[in-house]
Amino acid sequence: MKRKVTKAIFPVAGLGTRFLPATKSIPKEIMTLVDRPLIQYAIDEARAAGIKEFIFVTSRGKGALEDYFDNAPILEQELRKKGKNELLEVLKDTNMDSGAIAYIRQHKALGLGHAVWCARRLINNNEPFAVILPDDVIAAEKPCLQQMVEAYEDTGGCMVAAMEVPSEKSSSYGILDVKGDLGTMVSVKGMVEKPSAEQAPSNLAVIGRYILTPKVLQSLNRMKSGAGGEIQLTDAIAEEINQDRDVYGYRFRGERFDCGSKAGFLRATVAFGMARPELRDEFTSYLEDMVSLTKAAE
Ligand code: UTP
Repeated sequence: MKRKVTKAIFPVAGLGTRFLPATKSIPKEIMTLVDRPLIQYAIDEARAAGIKEFIFVTSRGKGALEDYFDNAPILEQELRKKGKNELLEVLKDTNMDSGAIAYIRQHKALGLGHAVWCARRLINNNEPFAVILPDDVIAAEKPCLQQMVEAYEDTGGCMVAAMEVPSEKSSSYGILDVKGDLGTMVSVKGMVEKPSAEQAPSNLAVIGRYILTPKVLQSLNRMKSGAGGEIQLTDAIAEEINQDRDVYGYRFRGERFDCGSKAGFLRATVAFGMARPELRDEFTSYLEDMVSLTKAAE
C-alpha cells in the first residue's frame, strides 16, 4: 500500500438544516468566516498536506461552490484595470489547476458514508485518500491534515483525527475505544457512535479529518446494498478493525471549531477575527465593551 496521500474527498452534499433559512439558497460551505468561505479553509489545509486532487461530493443547489473555484474573467479584468494587485493576489487562492477538481453528485443525502462511497470510482486500488469535512474548521500552527499525513507515512492503516471531549458531550460524537496509547496517537479497537457518558469507552472523539484505504470503500459498497437509512462512515472504519487491520486516532495539535452549529460558527468568527492583524485591535476592544456592558447590566 502506497503511503503518499494526494487525493482528498470533500463531502458537501448535506442539507445543512441547522443553518436554515440561510442554507435554503447558500451552501453551508460557502458561509464566510471573516472573509473566506469555509471551503477555502479546507482547501488550504489540504494543499498544505500535499493534496493535488480535490473531489467534491455535492448535491442540488451547490452551484455556488463550483463557481467559487472557477475563473472570474470580468472581475479579474476590472481589478487589473484598477491596479488592485493585492486583490488579484487574494483571488489566486481560489484558482485550481485544470483537472485538479472533480464534482460528483450524491443524489440523496443518505449519510456521510454514502457520500464518500459516491466518490469510489475516482480512487484507485491501493491508493489511500483523505476525507475532510469543511464544517470542522481547525486553527493550528501546522495544519491538521499535514500533521496526520506525516504520522501516516509511518503507520499506514486508517487514521482519524481525535480530540478530547468532556464525557457529557460524548453523545454528540463517534468515540474511540482505545487499544493502546502511543502518545500523539492511539491504536483503536472499536468505535462507538454517539454513546451516553456512561457508555463512552474513552474521552477521544472523532472529528472531520480522515485518512482511509480503499478497503473502506469496499465495506461501504456492501453497506450500500444492505442497510436502509443513513450509511455511516464510522461503521465502515469499524469494519477495518473487525478485519484486524490497523486504525489509529491522531491527537492533533490545534483548536477545532464546529462550524456546522451556530454556536461553533460564532466562536470561530470571534477566534479568526481576533487572529487577523488588521482587525484585532478594533474587534477586541468591541468585544471588551460588549462584555463590560453585559456585566454592568447584570
Ligand atoms: P452533518 O452531519 O453536519 O449534516 O454532515 P448537514 O446536512 O451538513 O447539516 P445539518 O446537520 O442538517 O445542519 C457532516 C458532513 O457530511 C456531509 C455534509 O455536507 C457535511 O460536510 N454529508 C452529510 C454529505 O455530504 N452527505 C450526507 O448525506 C450527509
